[in-house]
Amino acid sequence: PRPILLTRHGESKDNVRGRIGGDTAISDAGELYAKKLANFVEKRLKSERAASIWTSTLQRTILTASPIIGFPKIQWRALDEINAGVCDGMTYEEIKKNMPEEYESRKKDKLRYRYPRGESYLDVIQRLEPVIIELERQRAPVVVISHQAVLRALYAYFADRPLKEIPHIEMPLHTIIEIQMGVSGVQEKRYKLMD
Ligand code: F6P
Repeated sequence: PRPILLTRHGESKDNVRGRIGGDTAISDAGELYAKKLANFVEKRLKSERAASIWTSTLQRTILTASPIIGFPKIQWRALDEINAGVCDGMTYEEIKKNMPEEYESRKKDKLRYRYPRGESYLDVIQRLEPVIIELERQRAPVVVISHQAVLRALYAYFADRPLKEIPHIEMPLHTIIEIQMGVSGVQEKRYKLMD
């Protein structure tokens, strides 16, 4: 059985400021996570010569992958975070204050709500299809370093969680979710590398 390791990027500077979207670098805590992750991956996938590391095209995932050595890295645009359109770079408080109708519509139906000039969770789920097909096809382990909304959708696919739950699944920073697909179904382990 081959594991799939899912993780968010290390804490970003925008995470610290509470801003959504963007393309900032990682914070000091994020850097520390990147090192711990590299250590973990090195040990966990030691004899797995064909393993690979998949990131999004955004800095925070690429920087999180950078201390990992010895495995090929692949960037997928499909692994980029949900596009928040006109709200990109704002805090949730700013959206609530400046665009109250948008805030309310999202709260009412987070799965279907599409940011103006951006995406909905359903859009994200759809664009992940080729990634899922490729993950299913892999015979070697894959480490996926991506983002909150995207990982909710990927995790829900493997853990067989209903569509309507996806936008609300807990997806903490600095935690690895290991998924094992065996003959007897899917097994899951979690490793919290930092508080
Ligand atoms: O705050 C981090 C983040 O990845 C944002 O970039 C993104 O908009 C958000 O999480 C997605 O989570 P939610 O759908 O709960 O707003």
